[in-house]
Amino acid sequence: MATGRREVTDAESHRVAVSGDVEVGTYLEIGGAAAQGAATPVESGSQGTTAARRATTRDCVAILDFGSQYSQLIARRVREAHVYCELFPHDVDPERLRSSNPRGYILSGGPASVYEPDAPQIPSFVLESGLPILGICYGMQLLAHQLDGAVAPSAKREYGHALLRLSDEPPPIFAGLPDSFSVWMSHGDTITRLPKGFVAAATSDNSPVAAMVDPEGRIGIQFHPEVVHTPLGRQIIQNFLYKVCGCEGNWTSGSYIDQAVDEIRTRVGDGSVICALSGGVDSAVAATLVHRAVGDQLTCIFVDNGLLRREEPERTVATFRKHLQMKLRVVDAADAFLGRLEGVIDPEEKRQIVGDEFIRVFAAEARQLGQIDFLAQGTLYPDVIESTAPETRGAARIKTHHNVGGLPKDLPFQLVEPLRYLFKDEVREVGLALDLPEEMVWRQPFPGPGLSIRVLGDVTRERLEMVRGADWVVMNEIKAAGLYRQVWQSFAVLTPLRTVGVMGDFRTYGNLVAVRIVTSDDGMTADWARVPYDLLSRISNRIVNEVAGVNRVVFDITSKPPGTIEWE
Ligand code: XMP
Repeated sequence: MATGRREVTDAESHRVAVSGDVEVGTYLEIGGAAAQGAATPVESGSQGTTAARRATTRDCVAILDFGSQYSQLIARRVREAHVYCELFPHDVDPERLRSSNPRGYILSGGPASVYEPDAPQIPSFVLESGLPILGICYGMQLLAHQLDGAVAPSAKREYGHALLRLSDEPPPIFAGLPDSFSVWMSHGDTITRLPKGFVAAATSDNSPVAAMVDPEGRIGIQFHPEVVHTPLGRQIIQNFLYKVCGCEGNWTSGSYIDQAVDEIRTRVGDGSVICALSGGVDSAVAATLVHRAVGDQLTCIFVDNGLLRREEPERTVATFRKHLQMKLRVVDAADAFLGRLEGVIDPEEKRQIVGDEFIRVFAAEARQLGQIDFLAQGTLYPDVIESTAPETRGAARIKTHHNVGGLPKDLPFQLVEPLRYLFKDEVREVGLALDLPEEMVWRQPFPGPGLSIRVLGDVTRERLEMVRGADWVVMNEIKAAGLYRQVWQSFAVLTPLRTVGVMGDFRTYGNLVAVRIVTSDDGMTADWARVPYDLLSRISNRIVNEVAGVNRVVFDITSKPPGTIEWE
């Protein structure tokens, strides 16, 4: 890939970019950032050995990341084909990689050119492993370059759609595919001489060698099978996994649950575990897995901070206590949170206060439970993947450590993170397989500081009720229109503005509510959703009629960037 990593980051603000649903880890992180000189992180015990254990029971394919913006997408495609995979930096320690016991390797694309000085290389132990290798774009060029073929800048760069024409006797990677089909290209370099032992398996207008294979199962493809613009890409990835690597497709939510439960049981032994529930899917799935493994050795803590949406605390309690029969401690801490937020206008200060207060309440509750050995958290794979981009290397680890670091020193838990190898869509699948309610599994992301950052300016009980009422209408109508899962987030914001209106024969001077509905893939960039006018009209009418004190509704048509999703 010639394009670099996405430039939009949340780095400048204290907003926390999350992989999706905003979880307790985020509160802990905020608290951690506030707690200067926080506790030394506790290492997560035997977590390092789990890779080896995992390897013995399921196929694994290792993806080496050369910095492509699509690397995670490759991993998701492989998982969707029911094969477990892990993403490693291209210069990963060989022992670490071997411990995952891969059946094959995928080399991602990347922004470099193979003939640049310091261009990242394929480790020799991978090249010489005798295992199948699929090099994509830069990965293919590296294969050619390092196996004594030749790569040069092409006369014509190839970006976007291209027609791939297969050779007369297509190799297994192209089994079952038509003679020619559309693929997505994005490269400036091209193979000018095949490495020894390789044959060309496909061409395109600008790439005489658009695919190459050798008898050892080493394959290079110039295009990107992982993107949706290569419609037959999934089939190509499946062919590699099943026909070239010989994988069995044993990565399913059922097999994952069995294995995760086993691992948690072994790790926790007869220790005690706590888990903070937020009402979102990640902590819910993590807690449910731990509960399956160790039953009542798990105690869940749900902190009602007074900043949640209408009926949310009741639903969370009903699900975990009645439906799943977990030991659950509910802490009504609304007074403490709202007391500290009184008169606070600055959004970052609100975040710090909510994070800090959460830690305080959570720690106090944990202390009452006596000896606790483990803290279960819903950390996801995108949060722990080591980035290949030098500027963000190690960032994920720092985040995890912050989480623990935010807690007081006398609570030295070890972490149990049963979701740390899952993508968000896999967490949802597991959640459904665990029989969690759909509304929890598909809940839209909700920020850690809750409604405190959706009541702009001063957060009072009265204003919280107002935003709750408006939020209820938005949610209700979005669900009724069948759009709840299609949009990334949909919510109401209570502004500090008052406007003049007329209701009946009376002049009103009421509050202004903004409705924000956005589409997004990951929350990093977003666009306002083009929802039907009729829907907006119903939302507006209902809010003005049903929410006392509100007399005007506006719809936010700002994308991110330059805006953010939340208003504060
Ligand atoms: P922004 O507003 O930065 O939001 O475009 C991106 C995503 O993050 C959520 N968000 C937060 N989540 N703590 C959180 O846990 C926060 O302080 C916070 N601020 C924003 C937001 O809802 C969106 O999903």
